[in-house]
This record gives sequence, C-alpha cells and structure tokens, in this order.
Amino acid sequence: MVKIEIGKKQDFQEDTGTLIEKEGKQIAVFNKNGKLFAIDHVCLHRQGPLAEGYVDDDHIVTCPWHGWQYSIETGECLTSQGMKLNTYKVIEENEKVFLEL
Ligand code: FES
Repeated sequence: MVKIEIGKKQDFQEDTGTLIEKEGKQIAVFNKNGKLFAIDHVCLHRQGPLAEGYVDDDHIVTCPWHGWQYSIETGECLTSQGMKLNTYKVIEENEKVFLEL
C-alpha cells in the first residue's frame, strides 16, 4: 500500500467528483455531504467518466454516458449484478487528503 497526497479538503467540491490520476490509476474522488469517497473512475460498461457523474443522496453515482449506476461506498454496480469497481481508502490529515493505493 502506498499513501499518496491528492490535495486539500477544499479542493473537492461538495456533490461533485474529481478525477485523480496517480500510480497509473484513474480514480474518481467524490465529496458527498462533506465526506470523501474514492472509486475507479472508468465505468465498466464502455469506459465512461464516472468522476463526471451525478451522485444522489443514497451515494449512488450515475455514469454520464449510458446511466449505469454504482455505489460510491462499496463500488458495487447496481445496473449489472456481480460487477464491482475498486474502492480506495481516503485519509484526511491536517487539512490534507491522501489516498491509500
Ligand atoms: S460507459 Fe458508463 S454507462 Fe456506458
């Protein structure tokens, strides 16, 4: 596991996703109600950009391309059963935000 700094808490705007590219991975970081979540950025359907998706109050992100849905808490795909994105631990320390990869 590697701990990588990805910015400050205020860099992640409420209710939107931010694409982070580190260690050869593309990760979508979402700020939902002040809490940060990180999942793979690339949709399992046809590689749509999940960081640009809408997150609802149930912590479900909808892919902007064809509407596949995923939990930003577990990475589980709600549209195609059994499919799952990787999730990543987000660590907040002294205003800084880190991902554990
Ligand atoms: S690429 Fe995400 S739903 Fe099609």
